[in-house]
Amino acid sequence: MDLSKRYGNIYSLFIGSQLIVILTGYEIVRDALSNRADVFSDRPNVPVVTIMTKRKGIVFAPYGPVWRQQRKFCHMTLRSFGLGRLSLEPRILEELAVVKNELLRMYTDGEGTAVDLAPLVSNAVSNVISSITLGQRFHHGDRQFRTLLDLMARGLELCVNSPAILINVFPWLYHLPFGAFKEIRQVEKDITVFLKEIIGQHRSSLDPDSPRDLIDMYLVETAQQQESMGTGETSFSEDYLFYIIGDLFIAGTDTTTNTVLWMLLYMTVYPDIQEKVQAEIDSVVGSDRVPSLTDKVSCPFTEATIMEVQRMTTVVPLAIPHMASETTEFRGYTIPKGTVIIPNLWSVHRDPNVWENPDDFSPARFLDENGQILRKEYFIPFGIGRRLCMGEQLAKMELFLMFSNLMQAFTFRLPDGLPPPSMEGRFGLTLSPRPFTVHVTPRHRDLLTSEFRDLFGVSSYLLSSHNFHTICTSFTPRLNIMAFVTHQFIRTLSSTAVRNAAIKHITIIGGGQMGAGIAQVAAATGHSVVLVDTSDDILKKSIKGIEGSLKRIVKKKFADKPEAGEEFVQKILKNVSTSTDAASVVPGTDLVLEAIVENLKVKQGLFGSLDKVAPEHTIFASNTSSLPIADIASSTARLDRFGGLHFFNPVPLMKLVEVIQTPMTSQATFDALHDFSKALGKHPVSCKDTPGFIVNRLLVPYMMEAIRLHEKGHGSKEDIDVAMKLGAGYPMGPFELLDYVGLDTAKFIIDGWHDMDPENPLFNPSPMLNKLVEEGKFGKKTGEGFYKYK
Ligand code: HEM
Repeated sequence: MDLSKRYGNIYSLFIGSQLIVILTGYEIVRDALSNRADVFSDRPNVPVVTIMTKRKGIVFAPYGPVWRQQRKFCHMTLRSFGLGRLSLEPRILEELAVVKNELLRMYTDGEGTAVDLAPLVSNAVSNVISSITLGQRFHHGDRQFRTLLDLMARGLELCVNSPAILINVFPWLYHLPFGAFKEIRQVEKDITVFLKEIIGQHRSSLDPDSPRDLIDMYLVETAQQQESMGTGETSFSEDYLFYIIGDLFIAGTDTTTNTVLWMLLYMTVYPDIQEKVQAEIDSVVGSDRVPSLTDKVSCPFTEATIMEVQRMTTVVPLAIPHMASETTEFRGYTIPKGTVIIPNLWSVHRDPNVWENPDDFSPARFLDENGQILRKEYFIPFGIGRRLCMGEQLAKMELFLMFSNLMQAFTFRLPDGLPPPSMEGRFGLTLSPRPFTVHVTPRHRDLLTSEFRDLFGVSSYLLSSHNFHTICTSFTPRLNIMAFVTHQFIRTLSSTAVRNAAIKHITIIGGGQMGAGIAQVAAATGHSVVLVDTSDDILKKSIKGIEGSLKRIVKKKFADKPEAGEEFVQKILKNVSTSTDAASVVPGTDLVLEAIVENLKVKQGLFGSLDKVAPEHTIFASNTSSLPIADIASSTARLDRFGGLHFFNPVPLMKLVEVIQTPMTSQATFDALHDFSKALGKHPVSCKDTPGFIVNRLLVPYMMEAIRLHEKGHGSKEDIDVAMKLGAGYPMGPFELLDYVGLDTAKFIIDGWHDMDPENPLFNPSPMLNKLVEEGKFGKKTGEGFYKYK
């Protein structure tokens, strides 16, 4: 901007021998990129970029027929996945739910601490691109996915902000075996391995009639074009696809993430605007549902605020460099072929000829006198002309949904006592805010209280020793990219042919207390059950156990009608058969439910072998209370037909079933498991595949917090127990419960969780608990724990 004041709106400079022309202000930028699009739509050949992209993909591809074909195809594909339509909305909302939950967790875990929003927002945005392109969202915090994103960010940073930039002058530097030069080659190699593996997985599981994502659609198009035109004649190839995926991540992640971060930062600096946005959302949407795209038209102030933040910050301030594809005259200047053209979008957004007080933050500038949105042609954050951003529609959806949802749920404010954050930003390829932290406070208390309501509603009776004994470290980090790719993408090998028909025939693997209990309930509700275990002796005991349990019911229910009682027992027992050979019974079953030892390898081995013999429609479920369902499922090729059914001991008495859905479990499978639980007369609740699911995840930290309270001298164990019994209506106090469950077990669980997530204060170990365990005081079973027993 300063240079343009001195040299005019079109000025040039040389970097080495490269002539660069900078275009400033709306008139000039539009004139070049729109009116002279035929000449100014090429991209320069920047050595470091060319080495990385081979001038393939879209963003850096030369202007010409290949770029046109590829861009047209990608644009259409993005649309068919919901761009500009509502169908992408659920995916974005799903990501937002993760962000909101995480913010809520951070708030409840550490009220008062300021939060860095960048990793959360970046993960959510990347997941949206990921589900469109790769057909896959990733767990928040997944290390390998973060690694991929970090690699991409690092690659970009090395290109623009490291000695590797010298490659532009001396391309041979790229081959040097040290420093940034070596690193850039390694980054390139790692990304290549990751993406090629994914493309390979898609290829081997492709169903041309039902493409799942952009990769599938691209592979189908490639096959069609190669067939009709011949391999050498079309630009479509797997090699080209590789660069397109990279482009979508690079162009779609940082841009959107930084815009969202800027929006939240501006709201902390302009709390009055934040309040106005919140007031509008409250009046249009309320607090009972989340904002959706259909609300956008009724929320003009919110939209105007988004636009104003985009204007003030222009996250792609110099667009992506263009190049003159031939020598031309432009506004009295001769611009030689090959000149790099930099359209200064920042200058357009701060141009005093078109904006009043351009440096002031004022969303109202985008509103007319009726408070409706005023569109301005000189508002061009997505560029202008033929190289206009290809993801504009997607980005606009994301921006509105993310901003409105976060404004509805939270208030963002600056930490007290710190100097105001810099609003200058950091320039890479995009303009990002400098790292900042904010206080995030939930706006609707019910958001918070509903989290805790579950805890108070839970009776400690739900705790069975089974549940506690089997909780252990759940989330083993996935160790390498290959394992990760196999784990995440094996899903693509599985058919999606799930039918949500009622589950009638069940195979239960494991004749222990849980397995037998489930078998009893299933048989009593009219299902045909095969109970499987390794020996006839075990199975005899299981059946005896079921019979005994039924007889106890008969004693109460049929006290004066013993014959009817006997008939009742026999009718139910008739529905249960037994087998020691799972493979021979599984072919006739709708559901295989496993309730065996809590050992990942054993469970994986079991399901892996049954997967080969079970019919296509059969659903697999595990009754694990501790192991990640996704890890168990990874030994099969039916990740979409795999879920969790976590029963509570004693099964015939306990109403609750936790129905667990992994990111790969299809909706039809989840619905079938949910309906099945209801058909058993149970009350199902939906859970994600997280450690301890709901009940144990809440109860373990609750008991640990009780110990900590006692440790700090804030309450005696007796008082705490009485308080929870009389105040919360629990049948047992936390110390009584700990002694009942076993202190060794509690320690085992919390240590495992702490190892898994050492940052989480809820999982902190307790010195008092550790000492008691060291002394062999495990609770009731050893005669002493927190209390002494005779
Ligand atoms: C707030 C978010 C975004 C902003 C501000 C933005 C802005 C821009 C700008 C200024 C350009 C360069 C235009 C030019 O060279 O003249 C561009 C190009 C591009 N953007 Fe975006 N973008 C955003 C999000 C996205 C998303 C989500 C995607 C993909 C899903 C995407 C894909 C692309 C592609 C492929 C290009 C290159 C187009 C070409 O060279 O033909 N962008 N974007």
